[in-house]
Amino acid sequence: MESLTLLISAADVAEAVQRLAQDIDKDYANRHPVIVVVLKGAFMFAADLVRAMQTPIQTIEFIQASSYGTATVSSGAVSVVMGLGPEAIAHQDVIVVEDIIDTGTTTARILADLQTYQPASLKLCALMDKPDRRKVAVAIDYLGMAVPDRFIVGYGTDFAQKYRQLGAVYAIEEEN
Ligand code: IMP
Ligand code: MG
Repeated sequence: MESLTLLISAADVAEAVQRLAQDIDKDYANRHPVIVVVLKGAFMFAADLVRAMQTPIQTIEFIQASSYGTATVSSGAVSVVMGLGPEAIAHQDVIVVEDIIDTGTTTARILADLQTYQPASLKLCALMDKPDRRKVAVAIDYLGMAVPDRFIVGYGTDFAQKYRQLGAVYAIEEEN
């Protein structure tokens, strides 16, 4: 079994999401960005983020990349499970929405792939960042909050597919 420790309350998550939406609105005045949601973990964050944004969105696209399996330690190998075509991205202002940047491996790979489709601009919005774990440099243009080097669940993020539905963010401890 596991035990959960509250790290970020639902109210604090909501506040961070509002702030990010406002920052994006300021920067994208008169533009219509394409939102690329990285499944599965970012689904809840993205749903709240786009509702908090005033900026009209061109399209919302979904991609899935996985480097985890069921372990809490990244395997380092990234596979893009579902891609999207260049036509969705070419000449568009693209914002990639991620749940959490850990080693940076997954996001760096996704950004590099999307860059080959020649977007007009490409930005990254992540709810959480674990800076202590970074192996690959990733510039986070819009960041909700830094979190400690602990395994995170809730608000879309999972441990072996569990806990995604929780409205707050927790650190998980495995008990024997
Ligand atoms: P990275 O490639 O190591 O940066 O990990 C990328 C992905 O792994 C993130 O987008 C998350 O979906 C997932 N991930 C990383 N850290 C955690 C965590 O603490 N809890 C749940 N998922 C995580
Ligand atoms: Mg993710």
